[in-house]
Amino acid sequence: MKCALVIGGSGMLTDVSILLAETGYLVYVVGRSTEKMNNLLKKSNDNKNLIPVFIDYSNEQSLNKKIDEIIQENNTIHLIVAWVHSYAEHAIQSIINGIPSTSESSRFVHVLGSRSNLDKIKTELTIPNHCFYSQVKLGYMMQDDEKRWLTHEEICNGIIKTINNKKNVHVVGMLS
Ligand SMILES: NC(=O)c1ccc[n+]([C@@H]2O[C@H](COP(=O)([O-])OP(=O)(O)OC[C@H]3O[C@@H](n4cnc5c(N)ncnc54)[C@H](OP(=O)(O)O)[C@@H]3O)[C@@H](O)[C@H]2O)c1
Repeated sequence: MKCALVIGGSGMLTDVSILLAETGYLVYVVGRSTEKMNNLLKKSNDNKNLIPVFIDYSNEQSLNKKIDEIIQENNTIHLIVAWVHSYAEHAIQSIINGIPSTSESSRFVHVLGSRSNLDKIKTELTIPNHCFYSQVKLGYMMQDDEKRWLTHEEICNGIIKTINNKKNVHVVGMLS
């Protein structure tokens, strides 16, 4: 069974976590609040493939320990979707460093806010050859001549599209 890790998967990425679980992944979902995690489990029709992981991703030690455990149980992590707030500056590199070099490469989908500098972020990361790294930038939508934020559905659809299309960079919505 393929294994996925969705960091921040109990918030706006809830539907990404559920869809991956429904399409055959064993999905480890990182978050801190039991309430959000319970809502995610309730929303899924079949939650046996959703595994809550209650850690604070800004705590490098517990993040690394958890990633090691997941890899021991599954040999690798096939897909990582990460929505990580910028205060946890080392989390993304720590996760990438934990991906083992196996015959199959791992997919890393990095979800970023509209003000992020994608090139700078990618340049500052060290990405090994066995990791296929993509960025999803969240923009905005125009509605009745007004800018609005993306809905969770629009965000999740954009992320699923990126996973399926294997694009390096995907922008959801518009950028100013
Ligand atoms: N361009 C756009 O349209 C755009 C871009 C970004 C955000 N937004 C909107 O803004 C809203 C709020 O954004 P948000 O960033 O709070 O997103 P969110 O996805 O609703 O919540 C963040 C997710 O990350 C988890 N998380 C946060 N800090 C964590 C930590 N230190 N350790 C482990 N897990 C952690 C949260 O779970 P726990 O709280 O349980 O830890 C939750 O699963 C979103 O719902 C979205 O609608 C829109």
